Amino acid sequence: MNYLLRGIGVLATVGTLSLLAFSLPSGGEARGDGGDDLMPRLAHKNWQQECASCHLAYSPALLPRASWQRVMGGLEQHFGENASLDPATQADILRFLEANAADSGTSRMGDKVMQRMDRNTAPLRITETRWFVKKHDEVPRATWTRKSVGSAANCAACHRQAEKGVFDEDTVRIPK
Ligand code: HEC
Ligand code: HEC
Repeated sequence: MNYLLRGIGVLATVGTLSLLAFSLPSGGEARGDGGDDLMPRLAHKNWQQECASCHLAYSPALLPRASWQRVMGGLEQHFGENASLDPATQADILRFLEANAADSGTSRMGDKVMQRMDRNTAPLRITETRWFVKKHDEVPRATWTRKSVGSAANCAACHRQAEKGVFDEDTVRIPK
């Protein structure tokens, strides 16, 4: 945003339209996903209300549409829990997840997930995607089941700002 504002300031002073055409495509900043902001910033009332009570609200960008359809189609038996919703809320959340899914082309995060995705599969778990496994291949196997971690799905155990959607390297600390 700073860049954008500064850019506009410069443009206002110089006042040439040709400069505008030249400067806009130069940075991801204009799209709001530049710099270290890997995870897209998303807000959706039902999703935040219904999908963040047992674990953090996993970003839709971490799974493709086909996966979200499977997840949302099986909420009565959701990893050993009954997470079922009324049909209208369920449909509303699914629409949001699909619109922002890894294969929706709306985020850099999604593009990364899709680069490694086997298109014939629709994993139910983010932690089973090839992207996740590769990105975490330096985490020793025994770490995942440590009491302080619990499971790989417990992102916030290591990503200290996961609740805010921040997963940058410098915010990672594996608990003892
Ligand atoms: C009643 C509790 C509960 C609610 C509500 C709930 N979940 Fe879950 N969810 C779980 C549990 C338990 C797991 C398994 C966690 C683990 O393996 O450590 C899980 C796992 C997941 C995973 C897989 C995580 C991984 O391993 O990569 C996804 C995706 C997921 N939930 C999506 C959702 C969505 C979307 C909603 C909202 C519609 C939702 N959950 C609501 C309990 C819940
Ligand atoms: C046991 C600790 C641990 C857990 C649990 C964990 N991660 Fe990570 N994660 C790491 C480590 C370590 C890295 C590598 C940091 C680096 O790039 O050096 C990483 C990297 C990442 C990155 C890449 C950041 C970047 O800048 O490229 C993302 C995104 C990420 N994790 C998301 C998740 C999500 C989503 C979950 C939960 C479904 C999760 N992680 C669970 C430890 C963990």
